[in-house]
Amino acid sequence: MSHRRGALIVLEGVDRAGKTTQCKKLVQALRKSGRPVEMLRFPDRTTKIGQLISAYLEKNYNLEDHAVHLLFSANRWELEPLLRQKLEQGVSLVVDRYAFSGVAFTSAKPGFSLEWCMNPDVGLPKPDLVLYLQLSPEVAAQRGEFGAERYETSDFQRTVLQRYQHFKKDPSLNWQVIDAAKSIEDVHTEIKTHSEMAIEAVQYQPIAELWKGDSANQATEENP
Ligand SMILES: Nc1ncnc2c1ncn2[C@@H]1O[C@H](COP(=O)(O)OP(=O)(O)O)[C@@H](O)[C@H]1O
Ligand SMILES: [Mg+2]
Repeated sequence: MSHRRGALIVLEGVDRAGKTTQCKKLVQALRKSGRPVEMLRFPDRTTKIGQLISAYLEKNYNLEDHAVHLLFSANRWELEPLLRQKLEQGVSLVVDRYAFSGVAFTSAKPGFSLEWCMNPDVGLPKPDLVLYLQLSPEVAAQRGEFGAERYETSDFQRTVLQRYQHFKKDPSLNWQVIDAAKSIEDVHTEIKTHSEMAIEAVQYQPIAELWKGDSANQATEENP
């Protein structure tokens, strides 16, 4: 590839870890240093599929657990051409949640293996950097009450937090654990450094595919 591509940077973590706060600050900082960058979030509630997901999360609509998992994945796939286009145009993307949230949330439900949960997202553009904002449920609780949406309970979030730990085991993934209990500015500084490094490192590399190839399987060996 002769021209530079953008980097795909994903922020993950449990509710109130600071993902949205940090995505916005990161985009501002990268823009300020003259880098083309855009922010995305999943689920994207603006599409038709996203509206169904939104109604489900707001508890206005019930969906079977497998069906809703596939909708979350479909919501990522419907934006896949846009993601790829932006990256190829040299625009870096800062993404608030991605397939890791999909897997962590559904596999926190009884009867769902990690492998089943990962399958629909196999082949999506692979993030060049995942910033996992690590926060204990106790500290998260101090950041305010849960809202009224589905999944916003301490017990469920605790299980989600456990499920996230599996991704650390995939050596092909640039999974960086960030201590999200630090101040907003300190977290930002750390995230910005990682992001700038990733943008430089991948600019002449092709976009990889998520969970394809040998190393991807290592993350699925220990199904819950
Ligand atoms: N490092 C931090 N220290 C203290 N409070 C924070 C920190 N980061 C975010 N917050 C606050 O915690 C709440 C949740 O942050 P938010 O960015 O919405 O988290 P998420 O998107 O991960 O759910 C907000 O009120 C935010 O201002
Ligand atoms: Mg958020």
